[in-house]
Parts: sequence; structure tokens; C-alpha cells
Amino acid sequence: MIINLNGRICSEDEAVISVLDHGFLFGDSVYEVVRTHKGKLFTAKEHLERLQRSANRLMMMLPLTNEQFTEELIRTHKILNVDEAYMRLIVTRGVGALELHPASCQSQNYIIMAKPIDNWADELYSKGMSLSIVSILRNDPFALDPQIKSGNYLNNVLAIIEAKKSGADEGLMCNKYGYVSEGTNFNVFMVKDNVLITPELSSGILEGITRMIVLKLARANDIQVVEGKITPEDIISADEVFISSSTRDIMPVYKIDNTLLPKPTPGKMTQFLAQKFQEFLDVSVS
Ligand code: PDD
Repeated sequence: MIINLNGRICSEDEAVISVLDHGFLFGDSVYEVVRTHKGKLFTAKEHLERLQRSANRLMMMLPLTNEQFTEELIRTHKILNVDEAYMRLIVTRGVGALELHPASCQSQNYIIMAKPIDNWADELYSKGMSLSIVSILRNDPFALDPQIKSGNYLNNVLAIIEAKKSGADEGLMCNKYGYVSEGTNFNVFMVKDNVLITPELSSGILEGITRMIVLKLARANDIQVVEGKITPEDIISADEVFISSSTRDIMPVYKIDNTLLPKPTPGKMTQFLAQKFQEFLDVSVS
């Protein structure tokens, strides 16, 4: 892994910031995970726009413009020099007094962590992953809106701990109304009677960039799409379930809690959309 710390490229060991940074003290930071494909940034514009929206919601200034961030991502990626890279861009509130209010934080820190993208086991794509519907609820939008991609991921940390304890690969969270929202770091989709259904934004989810692309591709291919309310019973009785994120693309689900989903996994629509997504990925960087 290499680190770009405020424009200085260094190793993990050399990348140090103060313990008085409010990002460290309070999770007062925003971040994005951008991946590269065939050596080029994928949907960086969309990710940087979301970073800006997250920062706006926290009333946090960003230290660089989107153009400057793009240049830094490209520069860092060139030094890492791998085709398929994981680039995590974090902006913290910066160093300030040991108090919650950020008024004393004069300058934000930005950090780009770049490494080869995780190689998920083939089996997770060919057989699928297992999900546990955890008891931890997704943050309420009126408390900490999941649309803000902040460094405060404790909600998700609690969810993954619970999911792993139950033996599942990953955790799926519901909102306080009992509807499915999203996974610990991914969005979720189900297919029922050839209709593609995903939790609506008001379910309390991050509006995933991969989710947006999947919805666009589905609509472009005349697949009926519903963004709505999904109960745990709905998803457990789905014909197909898959998840989406920048680091995993589209990954099928074969089991939710103790219920095995209908075979084969991946299902027909999951396979179709995964194929379309791959084509989109290739075209976008060519
Ligand atoms: N996570 N929901 C949550 C809570 C997420 O953290 C993510 C992304 C997504 C999917 O968003 P996208 O398609 O834009 O990657 C949904 C990244 C990958 C992460 O934190 O590692």
C-alpha cells in the first residue's frame, strides 16, 4: 500500500497524522472508495461529487477541488502502478482542540490510500455469499444519514461483528420500520417474478454508485425496476438476491440467515446484470 498524505507520497509507516485530528477523535471525516480498471479511474467524477455532498452535509470544506483530487488520484495510482487498484480518499476535519465543535480545526487533512484491489474468492461469484439479517438497525436518516459517507462506521462495524458471529459472510441491516436497508458496505437487490427490486433511498441507505449503474443498465435493458420497501420476508422468499459495491461489483447471494435461495446461483438476472456491468466497466475506461 502507498499513501498520499496531503500531496506527499509515502509508505504506511511514514503516513502519520496528529491524534488531535477530529477525524481520529470523532470520526469527523468523509471518504470515498474509487477503483481503477485496466489502469484507469472508474466513475471518479461520481465519487468526488458524492464526497462533496457528504462534506456539505457535515459543513466541512474540502481542501482541493474535484479536478485537483482527480489529479492526485491519478498521480498516486501511477506510482502504485497496478491495473486494478483500490483508492480510498479520506478528508478529515483536521487538527483542533479536544472538543466536539470543529471551529478550532483550521485545515483539513486528505489521505489517499492506494493498494491492489482485493481479490475476492472465485466461489463468492460462482456460488455466492451468505447474509445474516442482523439485529443492529441501520442509522436513522434523522440521526446520522447513511447518505453521508463519513468516517463514522460504527453502525456498520457492529453489524459485521454480529453477522460474522452468526457464521455469515456479511450482514444486512434493516431500518427502524423493519424494512431492509443495506449491507455493511454494499447495497442489496432482489429479483421476484422478473422484477428487479431494491430498497428506496428513504429506506436509509447510501446511494451507491454501483447501485445507480445497475439500475441504469436494468432500465436500458427493459427490466422492470422497483425502488421500494422490502421486508425481511420478501428478501428471504426472493428468486434471486445480489449485492453491489465499488469493490465487489455484483456479487450473488445464495443464503440469507438459514434460508437457501432458489438454485442456480447466480440466477439468470444476476448473471445478465453482472455481464452488463462488466461491459460497462470495460467501455467506461476504454
Ligand atoms: N462502500 N452502502 C455502504 C454503507 C457503503 O459503504 C458502500 C460502499 C455502498 C456501495 O456504494 P458504491 O457502489 O458507491 O461503492 C453502499 C465502500 C466500497 C467501502 O466503504 O469500502
